[in-house]
Amino acid sequence: MVSRCLTAISVALIAFSSTAQAQTNFTTNWNPLGEGCVDSAGFLSCYGERETKAETCTSVCAQSNTKGTPSYNTCVDACNELWLADNIGCWIQSCWNQVYSCAYQLTALSYFDGSGLAQNSDVPFYPPPNDASAGACSCNLGYVYGNLSAVSTSTQGSNCEVIAGGNNATFYDCECCELSWPISNILNACPKSDLSGINFENGVSFPTYITRIATQLTPSTDKCAILNNGTETCISDYNFPYAGNTSYNPLSLPAAEPGKEALSNSAGNAFTVFPSASINLTLTMAPSYTSTITPASFGASASADPQSIAGTSIMGGTTTSISSTTTTTPSNTATSSSATATSTKKSAGVKMGGNLGLMALAVVPAVICIS
Ligand SMILES: *[C@@H]1O[C@H](CO)[C@@H](O)[C@H](O)[C@H]1NC(C)=O
Ligand SMILES: *[C@@H]1O[C@H](CO)[C@@H](O)[C@H](O)[C@H]1NC(C)=O
Ligand SMILES: *[C@@H]1O[C@H](CO)[C@@H](O)[C@H](O)[C@H]1NC(C)=O
Ligand SMILES: *[C@@H]1O[C@H](CO)[C@@H](O)[C@H](O)[C@H]1NC(C)=O
Ligand SMILES: *[C@@H]1O[C@H](CO)[C@@H](O)[C@H](O)[C@H]1NC(C)=O
Ligand SMILES: *[C@@H]1O[C@H](CO)[C@@H](O)[C@H](O)[C@H]1NC(C)=O
Repeated sequence: MVSRCLTAISVALIAFSSTAQAQTNFTTNWNPLGEGCVDSAGFLSCYGERETKAETCTSVCAQSNTKGTPSYNTCVDACNELWLADNIGCWIQSCWNQVYSCAYQLTALSYFDGSGLAQNSDVPFYPPPNDASAGACSCNLGYVYGNLSAVSTSTQGSNCEVIAGGNNATFYDCECCELSWPISNILNACPKSDLSGINFENGVSFPTYITRIATQLTPSTDKCAILNNGTETCISDYNFPYAGNTSYNPLSLPAAEPGKEALSNSAGNAFTVFPSASINLTLTMAPSYTSTITPASFGASASADPQSIAGTSIMGGTTTSISSTTTTTPSNTATSSSATATSTKKSAGVKMGGNLGLMALAVVPAVICIS
Protein backbone atom coordinates (compact mmCIF):
# COMPACT_ATOMS: atom_id res chain seq x y z
CA MET A 1 0.00 0.00 0.00
CA VAL A 2 1.27 3.44 -0.92
CA SER A 3 1.24 5.90 1.86
CA ARG A 4 0.66 9.48 0.84
CA CYS A 5 1.24 12.42 3.04
CA LEU A 6 -0.37 15.77 3.01
CA THR A 7 1.11 18.59 4.92
CA ALA A 8 -1.79 19.57 7.06
CA ILE A 9 -1.95 23.00 8.46
CA SER A 10 -3.91 23.29 11.61
CA VAL A 11 -4.71 26.41 13.43
CA ALA A 12 -4.30 26.65 17.14
CA LEU A 13 -4.93 29.40 19.56
CA ILE A 14 -2.16 30.74 21.69
CA ALA A 15 -1.75 33.74 23.85
CA PHE A 16 0.51 36.37 22.51
CA SER A 17 1.96 39.30 24.24
CA SER A 18 3.21 42.67 23.38
CA THR A 19 6.76 43.69 23.18
CA ALA A 20 7.65 45.63 26.26
CA GLN A 21 6.29 49.12 26.44
CA ALA A 22 5.26 51.50 29.14
CA GLN A 23 1.88 50.19 30.19
CA THR A 24 1.34 46.84 28.75
CA ASN A 25 -0.69 44.60 30.95
CA PHE A 26 -4.29 43.52 30.97
CA THR A 27 -5.32 45.81 33.78
CA THR A 28 -3.78 48.89 32.19
CA ASN A 29 -5.96 51.95 32.14
CA TRP A 30 -6.12 52.59 28.40
CA ASN A 31 -7.49 56.07 29.04
CA PRO A 32 -4.99 57.07 31.74
CA LEU A 33 -6.12 60.69 31.95
CA GLY A 34 -9.82 60.01 31.81
CA GLU A 35 -9.86 61.96 28.59
CA GLY A 36 -13.27 62.91 27.24
CA CYS A 37 -15.25 61.18 29.99
CA VAL A 38 -18.52 62.49 31.39
CA ASP A 39 -16.83 62.24 34.77
CA SER A 40 -13.07 62.16 34.36
CA ALA A 41 -12.29 62.50 38.05
CA GLY A 42 -14.76 59.77 38.94
CA PHE A 43 -13.31 57.57 36.22
CA LEU A 44 -9.78 57.91 37.54
CA SER A 45 -10.77 57.42 41.16
CA CYS A 46 -12.78 54.37 40.16
CA TYR A 47 -9.73 52.85 38.47
CA GLY A 48 -7.65 53.67 41.54
CA GLU A 49 -10.15 52.10 43.91
CA ARG A 50 -10.38 48.95 41.84
CA GLU A 51 -6.61 48.61 41.83
CA THR A 52 -6.49 48.93 45.59
CA LYS A 53 -9.29 46.42 45.89
CA ALA A 54 -7.43 43.97 43.68
CA GLU A 55 -4.28 44.35 45.76
CA THR A 56 -6.25 43.68 48.92
CA CYS A 57 -7.87 40.70 47.29
CA THR A 58 -4.47 39.32 46.32
CA SER A 59 -3.03 39.78 49.79
CA VAL A 60 -6.01 37.91 51.23
CA CYS A 61 -5.08 35.06 48.88
CA ALA A 62 -1.61 35.06 50.38
CA GLN A 63 -2.98 34.88 53.93
CA SER A 64 -4.94 31.73 53.35
CA ASN A 65 -2.76 30.00 50.78
CA THR A 66 0.88 29.31 50.26
CA LYS A 67 2.24 31.36 47.40
CA GLY A 68 2.77 29.36 44.25
CA THR A 69 0.33 26.61 45.14
CA PRO A 70 -2.57 25.87 42.81
CA SER A 71 -5.08 27.19 45.33
CA TYR A 72 -3.15 30.45 45.67
CA ASN A 73 -2.95 30.85 41.90
CA THR A 74 -6.66 30.16 41.51
CA CYS A 75 -7.38 32.76 44.16
CA VAL A 76 -5.17 35.39 42.50
CA ASP A 77 -6.68 34.66 39.12
CA ALA A 78 -10.13 35.31 40.53
CA CYS A 79 -8.93 38.65 41.93
CA ASN A 80 -7.50 39.64 38.58
CA GLU A 81 -10.53 38.56 36.61
CA LEU A 82 -12.71 40.63 38.89
CA TRP A 83 -10.34 43.58 38.46
CA LEU A 84 -10.63 43.38 34.68
CA ALA A 85 -14.44 43.35 34.90
CA ASP A 86 -14.32 46.17 37.48
CA ASN A 87 -12.45 48.33 34.97
CA ILE A 88 -15.32 47.95 32.52
CA GLY A 89 -17.69 48.98 35.30
CA CYS A 90 -15.69 52.20 35.69
CA TRP A 91 -16.30 53.03 32.03
CA ILE A 92 -20.01 52.39 32.26
CA GLN A 93 -20.23 54.55 35.34
CA SER A 94 -18.02 57.46 34.34
CA CYS A 95 -17.02 57.26 30.69
CA TRP A 96 -20.04 55.73 28.96
CA ASN A 97 -20.00 58.52 26.38
CA GLN A 98 -16.71 57.15 25.03
CA VAL A 99 -17.57 53.46 24.72
CA TYR A 100 -16.83 53.38 20.99
CA SER A 101 -13.28 54.61 21.56
CA CYS A 102 -10.17 52.56 20.97
CA ALA A 103 -9.42 52.69 24.70
CA TYR A 104 -12.75 51.19 25.75
CA GLN A 105 -12.43 48.43 23.19
CA LEU A 106 -8.95 47.65 24.46
CA THR A 107 -10.39 47.49 27.98
CA ALA A 108 -13.03 45.05 26.79
CA LEU A 109 -10.65 42.77 24.96
CA SER A 110 -8.21 42.93 27.88
CA TYR A 111 -11.02 41.58 30.05
CA PHE A 112 -11.80 38.72 27.69
CA ASP A 113 -8.22 37.82 26.99
CA GLY A 114 -6.99 38.29 30.55
CA SER A 115 -9.81 36.10 31.85
CA GLY A 116 -9.34 33.47 29.19
CA LEU A 117 -12.88 33.98 27.96
CA ALA A 118 -14.15 33.80 24.41
CA GLN A 119 -15.62 37.08 23.32
CA ASN A 120 -19.31 37.31 24.23
CA SER A 121 -21.99 39.93 24.73
CA ASP A 122 -21.45 40.48 28.46
CA VAL A 123 -19.58 43.72 27.87
CA PRO A 124 -21.99 46.54 27.06
CA PHE A 125 -21.58 48.50 23.82
CA TYR A 126 -18.91 46.14 22.56
CA PRO A 127 -18.11 45.64 19.77
CA PRO A 128 -19.35 48.99 18.53
CA PRO A 129 -22.09 48.88 15.89
CA ASN A 130 -21.10 49.06 12.23
CA ASP A 131 -22.36 52.61 11.94
CA ALA A 132 -20.59 53.97 15.02
CA SER A 133 -19.02 57.28 14.05
CA ALA A 134 -18.96 59.97 16.74
CA GLY A 135 -16.36 59.19 19.38
CA ALA A 136 -15.46 55.99 17.56
CA CYS A 137 -12.15 54.26 17.05
CA SER A 138 -10.93 54.22 13.46
CA CYS A 139 -10.91 50.42 13.62
CA ASN A 140 -13.52 48.17 15.15
CA LEU A 141 -11.13 46.33 17.47
CA GLY A 142 -13.99 44.17 18.68
CA TYR A 143 -14.21 42.70 15.22
CA VAL A 144 -10.47 42.20 15.09
CA TYR A 145 -10.40 40.40 18.39
CA GLY A 146 -13.68 38.62 17.74
CA ASN A 147 -12.38 37.10 14.55
CA LEU A 148 -9.12 36.05 16.14
CA SER A 149 -10.72 34.55 19.21
CA ALA A 150 -13.48 32.88 17.20
CA VAL A 151 -10.83 30.59 15.80
CA SER A 152 -10.27 29.17 19.27
CA THR A 153 -13.68 27.62 19.27
CA SER A 154 -13.41 26.82 15.64
CA THR A 155 -15.38 23.84 14.70
CA GLN A 156 -16.50 26.13 11.96
CA GLY A 157 -16.20 25.20 8.36
CA SER A 158 -14.86 22.05 6.85
CA ASN A 159 -12.17 19.73 8.02
CA CYS A 160 -9.88 20.12 5.06
CA GLU A 161 -8.09 16.80 5.43
CA VAL A 162 -11.37 14.93 5.49
CA ILE A 163 -12.97 16.84 2.68
CA ALA A 164 -9.90 16.55 0.46
CA GLY A 165 -9.67 12.80 0.83
CA GLY A 166 -6.08 12.95 -0.37
CA ASN A 167 -6.74 15.33 -3.26
CA ASN A 168 -4.02 17.93 -3.07
CA ALA A 169 -5.77 20.63 -5.06
CA THR A 170 -8.93 20.37 -3.02
CA PHE A 171 -6.91 20.29 0.15
CA TYR A 172 -5.18 23.57 -0.66
CA ASP A 173 -8.37 25.23 -1.87
CA CYS A 174 -9.86 24.41 1.49
CA GLU A 175 -6.75 25.46 3.43
CA CYS A 176 -6.58 28.75 1.56
CA CYS A 177 -10.11 29.46 2.76
CA GLU A 178 -9.51 28.18 6.28
CA LEU A 179 -6.35 30.12 7.04
CA SER A 180 -7.49 33.30 5.36
CA TRP A 181 -10.95 33.99 6.73
CA PRO A 182 -9.82 35.74 9.94
CA ILE A 183 -7.34 37.84 7.97
CA SER A 184 -9.96 38.64 5.38
CA ASN A 185 -12.56 39.59 7.96
CA ILE A 186 -10.11 41.78 9.84
CA LEU A 187 -8.98 43.56 6.69
CA ASN A 188 -12.60 44.02 5.65
CA ALA A 189 -13.30 45.65 9.01
CA CYS A 190 -10.11 47.70 9.22
CA PRO A 191 -8.53 48.05 5.77
CA LYS A 192 -6.63 51.20 6.67
CA SER A 193 -5.54 50.67 10.25
CA ASP A 194 -2.04 49.90 11.32
CA LEU A 195 -2.49 46.86 13.51
CA SER A 196 1.21 46.22 13.95
CA GLY A 197 0.86 47.44 17.54
CA ILE A 198 -1.08 44.28 18.24
CA ASN A 199 1.72 41.89 18.79
CA PHE A 200 1.72 38.16 18.87
CA GLU A 201 3.85 36.23 21.27
CA ASN A 202 7.52 36.71 20.52
CA GLY A 203 6.71 40.06 19.00
CA VAL A 204 4.99 38.73 15.90
CA SER A 205 2.84 41.55 14.65
CA PHE A 206 -0.36 41.22 12.68
CA PRO A 207 1.47 42.01 9.40
CA THR A 208 4.06 39.36 10.22
CA TYR A 209 1.29 36.94 11.03
CA ILE A 210 -0.15 37.46 7.56
CA THR A 211 3.28 36.72 6.13
CA ARG A 212 3.46 33.49 8.10
CA ILE A 213 0.09 32.36 6.83
CA ALA A 214 1.25 33.15 3.30
CA THR A 215 4.26 30.91 3.86
CA GLN A 216 2.00 28.10 4.95
CA LEU A 217 -0.02 28.50 1.76
CA THR A 218 2.94 28.66 -0.58
CA PRO A 219 2.52 25.03 -1.76
CA SER A 220 -0.85 25.95 -3.28
CA THR A 221 -0.11 25.46 -6.98
CA ASP A 222 -2.67 28.04 -8.11
CA LYS A 223 -1.63 30.52 -5.39
CA CYS A 224 -4.97 30.35 -3.65
CA ALA A 225 -6.90 31.41 -6.74
CA ILE A 226 -10.07 30.48 -4.89
CA LEU A 227 -9.56 33.64 -2.89
CA ASN A 228 -9.42 35.90 -5.92
CA ASN A 229 -13.09 35.43 -6.61
CA GLY A 230 -14.70 37.00 -3.60
CA THR A 231 -15.82 35.07 -0.56
CA GLU A 232 -18.63 33.07 -2.11
CA THR A 233 -16.82 29.85 -3.00
CA CYS A 234 -15.12 29.57 0.38
CA ILE A 235 -18.52 29.92 1.99
CA SER A 236 -20.52 27.71 -0.35
CA ASP A 237 -17.98 24.93 -0.76
CA TYR A 238 -16.29 24.93 2.64
CA ASN A 239 -18.56 26.86 4.94
CA PHE A 240 -15.98 29.16 6.51
CA PRO A 241 -17.37 32.25 8.25
CA TYR A 242 -16.31 34.96 5.83
CA ALA A 243 -17.94 38.32 6.41
CA GLY A 244 -18.46 40.74 3.56
CA ASN A 245 -17.93 40.15 -0.13
CA THR A 246 -14.26 41.02 -0.38
CA SER A 247 -11.77 38.27 0.17
CA TYR A 248 -8.12 38.93 0.75
CA ASN A 249 -5.53 36.52 -0.56
CA PRO A 250 -2.48 36.48 1.72
CA LEU A 251 -0.37 35.44 -1.30
CA SER A 252 -1.31 38.52 -3.29
CA LEU A 253 -2.51 41.30 -1.06
CA PRO A 254 -3.09 44.75 -2.52
CA ALA A 255 -0.14 47.05 -1.83
CA ALA A 256 -2.19 49.07 0.63
CA GLU A 257 -2.87 46.05 2.83
CA PRO A 258 -2.44 45.74 5.70
CA GLY A 259 -3.09 49.41 6.41
CA LYS A 260 -0.69 51.90 7.88
CA GLU A 261 -2.87 54.50 9.54
CA ALA A 262 -2.43 54.88 13.28
CA LEU A 263 -5.50 54.11 15.34
CA SER A 264 -7.38 57.22 16.30
CA ASN A 265 -10.73 58.31 17.69
CA SER A 266 -13.16 60.60 16.01
CA ALA A 267 -14.45 63.61 17.90
CA GLY A 268 -17.67 63.51 19.85
CA ASN A 269 -19.61 61.09 21.96
CA ALA A 270 -21.08 57.69 21.33
CA PHE A 271 -24.19 59.19 22.91
CA THR A 272 -25.03 62.06 25.21
CA VAL A 273 -27.90 60.40 27.01
CA PHE A 274 -27.17 57.07 28.61
CA PRO A 275 -29.17 54.59 26.55
CA SER A 276 -31.08 53.01 29.36
CA ALA A 277 -34.30 54.02 31.02
CA SER A 278 -33.28 52.92 34.49
CA ILE A 279 -31.18 55.15 36.71
CA ASN A 280 -29.37 52.22 38.19
CA LEU A 281 -28.32 49.27 36.18
CA THR A 282 -27.01 45.92 37.15
CA LEU A 283 -23.99 44.80 35.26
CA THR A 284 -22.99 41.17 35.34
CA MET A 285 -19.89 39.64 33.84
CA ALA A 286 -18.32 36.23 34.11
CA PRO A 287 -16.99 34.76 36.23
CA SER A 288 -18.01 36.65 39.37
CA TYR A 289 -18.73 40.31 38.70
CA THR A 290 -22.08 41.81 39.60
CA SER A 291 -22.39 45.50 40.22
CA THR A 292 -25.10 48.11 40.48
CA ILE A 293 -23.98 51.14 38.56
CA THR A 294 -25.39 54.63 38.36
CA PRO A 295 -24.05 56.18 35.16
CA ALA A 296 -22.82 59.73 35.77
CA SER A 297 -24.90 62.45 34.22
CA PHE A 298 -23.74 64.02 30.99
CA GLY A 299 -21.94 67.35 31.28
CA ALA A 300 -21.94 69.74 28.34
CA SER A 301 -18.17 69.97 28.47
CA ALA A 302 -17.62 66.25 28.19
CA SER A 303 -16.03 64.81 25.13
CA ALA A 304 -15.76 66.89 22.02
CA ASP A 305 -12.01 66.68 21.61
CA PRO A 306 -11.07 63.47 19.96
CA GLN A 307 -9.15 61.25 22.26
CA SER A 308 -5.89 60.51 20.67
CA ILE A 309 -3.97 57.34 20.31
CA ALA A 310 -0.50 58.54 19.67
CA GLY A 311 2.03 57.14 17.29
CA THR A 312 1.99 53.54 16.30
CA SER A 313 1.33 52.37 19.79
CA ILE A 314 -1.96 51.08 20.96
CA MET A 315 -0.19 49.68 23.95
CA GLY A 316 -0.72 52.28 26.60
CA GLY A 317 -2.82 54.79 24.72
CA THR A 318 -0.52 57.76 25.05
CA THR A 319 -2.52 60.91 25.19
CA THR A 320 -1.57 64.33 24.00
CA SER A 321 -3.83 66.53 26.05
CA ILE A 322 -6.34 66.50 28.84
CA SER A 323 -9.72 67.74 27.85
CA SER A 324 -11.08 70.49 30.07
CA THR A 325 -13.87 68.39 31.38
CA THR A 326 -15.66 69.77 34.37
CA THR A 327 -16.49 67.12 36.82
CA THR A 328 -20.07 66.19 37.24
CA THR A 329 -21.14 64.83 40.57
CA PRO A 330 -19.32 61.57 40.94
CA SER A 331 -21.65 58.75 41.61
CA ASN A 332 -19.45 56.16 43.13
CA THR A 333 -22.26 53.87 43.95
CA ALA A 334 -20.88 50.93 42.11
CA THR A 335 -20.21 48.00 44.32
CA SER A 336 -18.87 44.69 43.32
CA SER A 337 -19.12 41.29 44.72
CA SER A 338 -15.95 40.01 46.24
CA ALA A 339 -13.73 37.65 44.41
CA THR A 340 -14.98 34.38 45.66
CA ALA A 341 -15.67 32.59 42.45
CA THR A 342 -13.32 29.97 41.31
CA SER A 343 -11.27 30.62 38.27
CA THR A 344 -11.46 28.60 35.16
CA LYS A 345 -7.98 29.46 34.10
CA LYS A 346 -5.26 26.99 34.67
CA SER A 347 -2.09 28.96 34.18
CA ALA A 348 -2.63 30.97 37.29
CA GLY A 349 -1.26 34.42 37.56
CA VAL A 350 1.08 34.06 34.64
CA LYS A 351 -0.78 36.12 32.11
CA MET A 352 -1.77 38.80 34.53
CA GLY A 353 1.75 39.34 35.67
CA GLY A 354 3.04 39.79 32.18
CA ASN A 355 2.48 42.14 29.35
CA LEU A 356 -0.72 42.72 27.51
CA GLY A 357 -1.41 39.72 25.40
CA LEU A 358 -3.95 39.32 22.73
CA MET A 359 -5.13 35.99 21.57
CA ALA A 360 -4.01 35.06 18.17
CA LEU A 361 -3.51 32.32 15.79
CA ALA A 362 -0.53 30.13 15.60
CA VAL A 363 0.15 28.04 12.61
CA VAL A 364 1.02 24.56 13.60
CA PRO A 365 2.26 22.42 10.78
CA ALA A 366 1.65 18.73 11.06
CA VAL A 367 2.04 15.87 8.70
CA ILE A 368 -1.00 13.80 8.02
CA CYS A 369 -0.50 10.55 6.21
CA ILE A 370 -3.25 8.84 4.34
CA SER A 371 -2.67 5.20 3.62
C1 LIG B 1 -0.26 46.52 35.41
O1 LIG B 1 -1.18 47.59 35.45
C2 LIG B 1 -1.59 47.95 36.75
C3 LIG B 1 -2.67 48.98 36.62
O2 LIG B 1 -2.32 50.01 35.75
C4 LIG B 1 -0.38 48.41 37.55
O3 LIG B 1 -0.77 48.72 38.84
C5 LIG B 1 0.65 47.29 37.59
O4 LIG B 1 1.80 47.75 38.23
C6 LIG B 1 1.00 46.84 36.19
N1 LIG B 1 1.84 45.66 36.28
C7 LIG B 1 2.91 45.52 35.53
C8 LIG B 1 3.66 44.24 35.72
O5 LIG B 1 3.28 46.34 34.74
C1 LIG C 1 -15.42 39.48 12.03
O1 LIG C 1 -15.31 40.66 11.25
C2 LIG C 1 -16.51 41.01 10.57
C3 LIG C 1 -16.23 42.22 9.75
O2 LIG C 1 -15.37 41.89 8.69
C4 LIG C 1 -17.63 41.24 11.55
O3 LIG C 1 -18.82 41.53 10.88
C5 LIG C 1 -17.81 40.02 12.41
O4 LIG C 1 -18.78 40.27 13.40
C6 LIG C 1 -16.50 39.64 13.07
N1 LIG C 1 -16.66 38.40 13.80
C7 LIG C 1 -16.53 38.32 15.12
C8 LIG C 1 -16.74 36.96 15.71
O5 LIG C 1 -16.26 39.27 15.81
C1 LIG D 1 0.86 18.24 -2.60
O1 LIG D 1 1.41 19.39 -3.20
C2 LIG D 1 2.61 19.83 -2.64
C3 LIG D 1 3.00 21.12 -3.30
O2 LIG D 1 2.84 21.04 -4.67
C4 LIG D 1 3.66 18.75 -2.81
O3 LIG D 1 4.85 19.15 -2.17
C5 LIG D 1 3.17 17.47 -2.18
O4 LIG D 1 4.07 16.45 -2.43
C6 LIG D 1 1.83 17.11 -2.74
N1 LIG D 1 1.31 15.96 -2.02
C7 LIG D 1 0.72 14.97 -2.64
C8 LIG D 1 0.25 13.87 -1.77
O5 LIG D 1 0.57 14.95 -3.86
C1 LIG E 1 -14.87 32.24 -9.81
O1 LIG E 1 -16.25 32.49 -9.94
C2 LIG E 1 -16.79 32.01 -11.16
C3 LIG E 1 -18.24 32.47 -11.25
O2 LIG E 1 -18.88 32.44 -10.02
C4 LIG E 1 -16.66 30.51 -11.20
O3 LIG E 1 -17.16 29.99 -12.42
C5 LIG E 1 -15.19 30.12 -11.06
O4 LIG E 1 -15.03 28.74 -11.00
C6 LIG E 1 -14.58 30.75 -9.84
N1 LIG E 1 -13.16 30.51 -9.80
C7 LIG E 1 -12.54 29.99 -8.76
C8 LIG E 1 -11.05 29.83 -8.87
O5 LIG E 1 -13.12 29.67 -7.72
C1 LIG F 1 -22.49 41.12 -1.22
O1 LIG F 1 -22.98 40.81 -2.52
C2 LIG F 1 -24.35 40.54 -2.55
C3 LIG F 1 -24.73 40.05 -3.95
O2 LIG F 1 -23.91 40.66 -4.91
C4 LIG F 1 -25.09 41.81 -2.15
O3 LIG F 1 -26.49 41.59 -2.18
C5 LIG F 1 -24.65 42.23 -0.76
O4 LIG F 1 -25.25 43.45 -0.41
C6 LIG F 1 -23.15 42.35 -0.67
N1 LIG F 1 -22.77 42.54 0.71
C7 LIG F 1 -21.90 43.46 1.10
C8 LIG F 1 -21.60 43.49 2.57
O5 LIG F 1 -21.38 44.22 0.32
C1 LIG G 1 -29.97 53.93 42.73
O1 LIG G 1 -28.88 53.57 43.55
C2 LIG G 1 -28.66 54.48 44.60
C3 LIG G 1 -27.41 54.06 45.33
O2 LIG G 1 -27.41 52.71 45.61
C4 LIG G 1 -29.89 54.49 45.54
O3 LIG G 1 -29.69 55.43 46.58
C5 LIG G 1 -31.11 54.88 44.72
O4 LIG G 1 -32.27 54.79 45.53
C6 LIG G 1 -31.27 53.98 43.51
N1 LIG G 1 -32.34 54.49 42.67
C7 LIG G 1 -33.28 53.70 42.15
C8 LIG G 1 -34.32 54.37 41.32
O5 LIG G 1 -33.29 52.48 42.31
